Amino acid sequence: MRLLQWAWLGLISFAAADTNVTHESRNILPSTFKPPQHFRNVNLVRNINLEKSYPRETINVVVENIDDQPQSEYYLPFEQGTLGRIGGLEAKDKKEPGRTGFTAEVVEIDPYSPTEYYKITLPAVLPPKEQITLQITYYVLSALSPLPAQIGQMDKQYVLHTFSAYAPSSYTTLKQKTKLKLPTADVPDVTTLPADLNAEGKEDPQKQGTTFTYGPYGEREAGAIQEASVRYEFTKPLTHGKLLERDIEISHWGGNIATEERHWLTNRAAVLKNHFSRVAYQQSAYYNPPTHALKEMRFPLTAGSVDAYFIDDIGNVSTSRFRTNTRESNLEIKPRYPLFGNWNYGFKVGWNIDVKDYVRHLKGQSNSYILKVPFFEGPKQVEGIEYERIVTSVILPEGAKNVRFETSVPLVSNTTGLHRTFMDTLGRTIITLTAVNVVDEFRDRDLIVTYEYPSSARFMKPLTIFGGMLVVFAFSWVIGNLDVSIGKKQKTA
Ligand SMILES: *[C@@H]1O[C@H](CO)[C@@H](O)[C@H](O)[C@H]1NC(C)=O
Ligand SMILES: *[C@@H]1O[C@H](CO)[C@@H](O)[C@H](O)[C@H]1NC(C)=O
Ligand SMILES: *[C@@H]1O[C@H](CO)[C@@H](O)[C@H](O)[C@H]1NC(C)=O
Repeated sequence: MRLLQWAWLGLISFAAADTNVTHESRNILPSTFKPPQHFRNVNLVRNINLEKSYPRETINVVVENIDDQPQSEYYLPFEQGTLGRIGGLEAKDKKEPGRTGFTAEVVEIDPYSPTEYYKITLPAVLPPKEQITLQITYYVLSALSPLPAQIGQMDKQYVLHTFSAYAPSSYTTLKQKTKLKLPTADVPDVTTLPADLNAEGKEDPQKQGTTFTYGPYGEREAGAIQEASVRYEFTKPLTHGKLLERDIEISHWGGNIATEERHWLTNRAAVLKNHFSRVAYQQSAYYNPPTHALKEMRFPLTAGSVDAYFIDDIGNVSTSRFRTNTRESNLEIKPRYPLFGNWNYGFKVGWNIDVKDYVRHLKGQSNSYILKVPFFEGPKQVEGIEYERIVTSVILPEGAKNVRFETSVPLVSNTTGLHRTFMDTLGRTIITLTAVNVVDEFRDRDLIVTYEYPSSARFMKPLTIFGGMLVVFAFSWVIGNLDVSIGKKQKTA
């Protein structure tokens, strides 16, 4: 047990050192690269939603092909340092949301270039003079900074968000607006821009309830930036997952799927100005005021989950509640201490589900199976959780082969290997999938794994165990027949 804990702590320091997380699977372009000016943005509206602990940006843009050839590659620029914190970037046709085939990938110039790009490829080429309305969505991680950076235990927290009032663009933009949606009307600071920048000469931004609108602006060249910032009340934790490791182990023989998630969380909220007072904390627990501390987490698990556990660096944690039935399963956990700004918490949770509810025979193929589970579960918080890196492994039964998988969570890597435990003869196929910069809004996305599992392999396991028992039986039989007893010797003497 001790050893296990140390191994686990070792992993925590590994996670902390591992920060260059997105420099994987990229196309390297020469540093002289500039996106070809095949397009212009005719009209653009960007929404920055700040209701959660990570901003969600949505760009709706009418794009026109101004080249004399059909074109299909649209570049979206990010400053270096920002791109490594962008997650879940997806594009679609705003007018035809069901249209599939858009891809988005990071293209890197060189590690020291000030600008990096996402390349969005349209499902079909856009002919000259034609337009398409793109909807591009993404999340920005580690985006809010508490200001002041130190506050008291019971204080309100304010956060600062810095952005450009002009949307990121590799092309000339004829007309644009940026709208901020805030979670509160308590906004002590917001940048006011000179009215002469505004196409209508209006006060900039315009405020309506909890929405601030910058623009409209007239023609701006590619790469134009107009810095702005907003500071607003956000007395909630800024929960940041440094690493989430998730194992899904399938046993046809045991009829079980065992899931374990190991979390390394930190709270990016304001640091405590004074020592933590448990007395003040317990008194306040009575009326439950908003707080920047992370106090509890709720895991809505797949229906029918059983045998849930919650263990942290110290051991079993009793402050958890697990309710399950055929329709829903909920695990509610309270860390050993409330997690204030800059505090870390490492823990694991696990549970079992019935194989027959999540693994099906593939139609018409008696030896082929299909598994459908969430890519990750993790807590679901009102204010949201962001993850730097999620590593999901699926451990298939021994003898499973031709493993294929599919998920709509953008991955940076996938590997297939062998996993051996002491009762295995061949080792089991394990697939390991890594995603970076993921937010909890993706927690319902499925992971689908298909594999062949021949019936000969299905009987392998019981045979191995039966064989093992025979050896033990034979061994004890031999031992039993040796006359080694001391008593007997004495009798004969
Ligand atoms: C991350 O990348 C930068 C630039 O490539 C490098 O200077 C830094 O040492 C790297 N950090 C780690 C932890 O590998
Ligand atoms: C943790 O709790 C579970 C259930 O209450 C118990 O079965 C298990 O032995 C405990 N483990 C440790 C290490 O205390
Ligand atoms: C898995 O990784 C390989 C490269 O190692 C890549 O070619 C393939 O597209 C990846 N598969 C998926 C589904 O991401």
